[in-house]
Amino acid sequence: MDQLSMKKQAAQAALKYVKADTIVGVGSGSTVNCFIDALGSMKGQIKGAVAASKESERRLRELGIDVFDANEVSGLDVYIDGADEITPQGYMIKGGGAALTREKIVSSLAKKFICIVDKSKQVDVLGSTFALPVEVIPMARSYVARQLVALGGSPEYREGVVTDNGNIILDVYNFKIIEPLKMEHTINNIAGVVTNGIFAQRFANVTIVGTPEGAKIIE
Ligand code: A5P
Repeated sequence: MDQLSMKKQAAQAALKYVKADTIVGVGSGSTVNCFIDALGSMKGQIKGAVAASKESERRLRELGIDVFDANEVSGLDVYIDGADEITPQGYMIKGGGAALTREKIVSSLAKKFICIVDKSKQVDVLGSTFALPVEVIPMARSYVARQLVALGGSPEYREGVVTDNGNIILDVYNFKIIEPLKMEHTINNIAGVVTNGIFAQRFANVTIVGTPEGAKIIE
């Protein structure tokens, strides 16, 4: 089975977590695009969505789903998003699509984070297969990069990328993240960092993995 079919499978299985008459938190990326397509079948039953990226917002509106600003809602029942890596404990690296800050904001509003991935995203230790994205205020780029080197990583500037918030991304390579919660806080404390792509404080409560044998749900 190809990767896209596994993503579709996980996305479809996530629909059972969406309750009627609620506003759904929606992340970003190719797996979420599959979820948005699937959510189209429920559009008459939900109140709408809060989107974590301009691209997700555009796709939701295209399907006729109302999109609310994060400031208009006091909380969300569920937030559905993909990940670049996820551990058995539900800790994630996100931000491959540079939407990490908005993803952290919208997911923080939700009672439950439902992570939808294909099986290639499962790892035991974060940083094993994917560089850690860090969103940085442009004038702090060199300072933050030096601090990341001091923490043991190899940061690289993601050329040509400006986030939805007007900032830049540093991707940190060679970074095995043994204590995700501690590292998330340490990096977020560097002056000039907007946020980093470790999702440990806001971990996934449910992981849905698309596999050739069907969607596996880990609660
Ligand atoms: C976007 O910034 C990311 O956090 C995505 O959730 C992550 O990169 C997963 O993307 P795919 O679903 O495209 O693999």
